[in-house]
Amino acid sequence: MRLLLINGPNLNLLGTREPEMYGSFSLEEIEEKLCMKAKQENIQLDCFQSNCEGALVDRIHQAIEQVDGILINAGAYTHTSIAIRDALLAVNIPYVELHLSNTYSREIFREKSFLADRALGIVSGFGLMSYHLAMDGLVSHLKKNIE
Ligand code: DQA
Repeated sequence: MRLLLINGPNLNLLGTREPEMYGSFSLEEIEEKLCMKAKQENIQLDCFQSNCEGALVDRIHQAIEQVDGILINAGAYTHTSIAIRDALLAVNIPYVELHLSNTYSREIFREKSFLADRALGIVSGFGLMSYHLAMDGLVSHLKKNIE
């Protein structure tokens, strides 16, 4: 099984960016932990981060026929990007939307997600654990489909 983890804008600053909101792990550490977990489960996990909407769209396109599922923390683009939504629907790969913070307990503009209604599921508010829970959910869904 092959998965793709996508992180959007400002997530490259994790560790120092508002640690009270997003925790003290760097993105590198999060990716490392997730890759270790994936390896234990015999899953190949590719990781990608960009601050640019177009680069995120391009990376989603590259996943066609390469990837079984996508984990995506699109950061602020979650709340604004029809282009990222369209890319995810165009490649027709199951995806899970995830967030470190609980986006529903913050500003009202974070309650809107352009990705949520077509996602397999959403995980929001568990910090680093959001990534692990999202991966567990996606893997268990994909395994069920393969069986
Ligand atoms: C975030 C939540 C978004 O609202 C915000 O713009 C981010 C991070 C999260 O992981 O909690 O950049 O996606």
